[in-house]
Amino acid sequence: MEKKFLGSFTQQQPLPESAIEAATKVMRHGRLHRYNVENGEISETALFEQEFARQLDVKFCLACASGGYAMTTALRALGVSFGDKVLTNGFTLAPVPGAIAAAGGEIVFVEINDELLIDFDDLERKIISSKSKVLLLSHMRGHICNMDTLMRLCDQYEVQVVEDCAHTMGAKWDKHWSGKFGLIGCYSTQTYKHLNSGEGGILITNDQEIMARAIILSGSYMLFDRHISRPEIDIFDEIKLETPNCSGRMDNLRSAILRPQLKNLEFNCRAWNERYAVVEKCLTGTKGIKLVRRDPKEKFVASSFQFLLPELAANQIIAILSGCAERGVELKWFGAKQPTGFTSRYTSWQYAPKQTLVNTEAILDGLIDMRLPLTFSIKDCETISYIIKEEIEQVVS
Ligand SMILES: Cc1ncc(COP(=O)(O)O)c(C=O)c1O
Repeated sequence: MEKKFLGSFTQQQPLPESAIEAATKVMRHGRLHRYNVENGEISETALFEQEFARQLDVKFCLACASGGYAMTTALRALGVSFGDKVLTNGFTLAPVPGAIAAAGGEIVFVEINDELLIDFDDLERKIISSKSKVLLLSHMRGHICNMDTLMRLCDQYEVQVVEDCAHTMGAKWDKHWSGKFGLIGCYSTQTYKHLNSGEGGILITNDQEIMARAIILSGSYMLFDRHISRPEIDIFDEIKLETPNCSGRMDNLRSAILRPQLKNLEFNCRAWNERYAVVEKCLTGTKGIKLVRRDPKEKFVASSFQFLLPELAANQIIAILSGCAERGVELKWFGAKQPTGFTSRYTSWQYAPKQTLVNTEAILDGLIDMRLPLTFSIKDCETISYIIKEEIEQVVS
């Protein structure tokens, strides 16, 4: 009988009991707003920021409403404003160009290579031709480029780097945390990310003026002294009246459920990578598939899996996707002409000036993407891989 998979690709793990208890405590006292504290009390949000900063050994951390909001805030804090050109990878998801647009920037897409990483030659060309001074680097689907080379190139041209770490929380390039190479690192705590508060974002930096601006931008009124992961108060005095309040705060309920999850992050990252390794092993050698090569220095966290079907025509890929879907395996395809669900591609973002990325286009045409939630067992990963392999072999042979 044909094997089928019955699990859900969108089912995350339940929250730990400690998170549920912490949430209940906040709901019982009712002080959900981050600045609503009793005398001497430090809010859950301020504590979460402090703990996140400690975990990454970074000076300052701000929690906010979403990953997209964190990136917009990062760009605004760097001074990006109307019409400024901002570079970003041609392979990313909609909140990234959306953040550039929200800050008023003009999007300049950079090609990727078939390791799904930003193409350094094209980046250099685009830095020169656009004269852009900011790169919003998306570590899309957890793929991390050679950060030493990237930073050398950006430093050479005085390009400031903001890292989109929505898919790399807990990951490193070589010995250093993703998010700490650029001036600012941004994370998401939306349900499908490595910490789950439904919605949420985090911004980190070692730069005191950037953090002071980011805190005011996030909507701190004149209550910024209630942050504990912040620069000295006199830094705020210099910028508090010239920085707009664009409310997008994190609340205490979400922070309360994030704090216990932070303690499990390392364990969960290992669990994701175990699942990734099983899928990678099972799919290795499948005719028609090209797996994504990864540098040993890339200490990734694989909460999703990507592979390429570079030789196949669109109708063959569609046949594979529908064969897999009928057997319960939900694959996403970056080559679809119409954006669907969470998946869209750079040509779908028509608010950006029209651009053509020949290599990226060819790669996306054959790029398949799959979530690996921790509710999947190792056995589930084997079943899923078996089904994918069978469906591809049927079409390819
Ligand atoms: C690559 C990437 N960056 C950033 C984000 C931003 O996350 P949020 O949904 O929290 O705005 C997402 C969310 O899907 C994403 O996929």
